[in-house]
Amino acid sequence: MSLEAKEFIMNAVIDAILTRRSVRSYRPDPVPPADLDTILLAGSYAPNGKGLQNWKFTAIASPERLRQVNEAIRQALLPIPVTPETHPYVASLIEKAQDESAEFLYGAPALVIVSHLSSDRNAMANSALAIGSMMLAAHSLGLGSCWLNQLPGLAHLPPVLALLSELGIPEEYQVYGSMALGYPAEEPKPAAPRKEGVITVIR
Ligand SMILES: Cc1cc2nc3c(=O)[nH]c(=O)nc-3n(C[C@H](O)[C@H](O)[C@H](O)COP(=O)(O)O)c2cc1C
Repeated sequence: MSLEAKEFIMNAVIDAILTRRSVRSYRPDPVPPADLDTILLAGSYAPNGKGLQNWKFTAIASPERLRQVNEAIRQALLPIPVTPETHPYVASLIEKAQDESAEFLYGAPALVIVSHLSSDRNAMANSALAIGSMMLAAHSLGLGSCWLNQLPGLAHLPPVLALLSELGIPEEYQVYGSMALGYPAEEPKPAAPRKEGVITVIR
């Protein structure tokens, strides 16, 4: 049976899940501190393997610090050679990094870096669930968000390593994801149609 033919129930949580979209352009207005605290609290209540809470959420709301994060990403990308094997998306990021004013955080006024004790086999799953909860909380408060994969992808390279240490992220913690946060500057693209064949219900 196609999704259109089904009957669904609506409430505030389901509505937030269905209407959240990735936001890739932000207004410069800061995220109100109480909103940021609430979003981080929501992340900390996400399910996590064995309930160990082996994660850290490092929220950056300082424009100067955000510039440092952006520059660390740029500096990490700059020396990477582009070869025929380089993924086109990565090649485009490396090319973008040549521009001193390149913006990798979509101009967001806040960023949440999620790191996790890397020896925990649930590290990625826990981090992703926390980010998901924070995204939904953000959306419910009228804020936009977007998962950003540059930091985790470049975290082994010296400019980003140095930054993470400066931000107080311990060596035994690995960055699994980061999330841009702020008021949307534009209406995000509508959700793509849901793929057929994803859901099976066996009754
Ligand atoms: C693991 C993961 C990595 C992602 N990395 C990026 C990224 O680096 N940059 C970006 O703009 N969006 C990134 N996204 C956002 C996805 O592109 C987005 O969720 C997807 O296109 C669906 O759109 P929606 O979030 O609006 O529903 C990422 C999402 C996930 C879950």
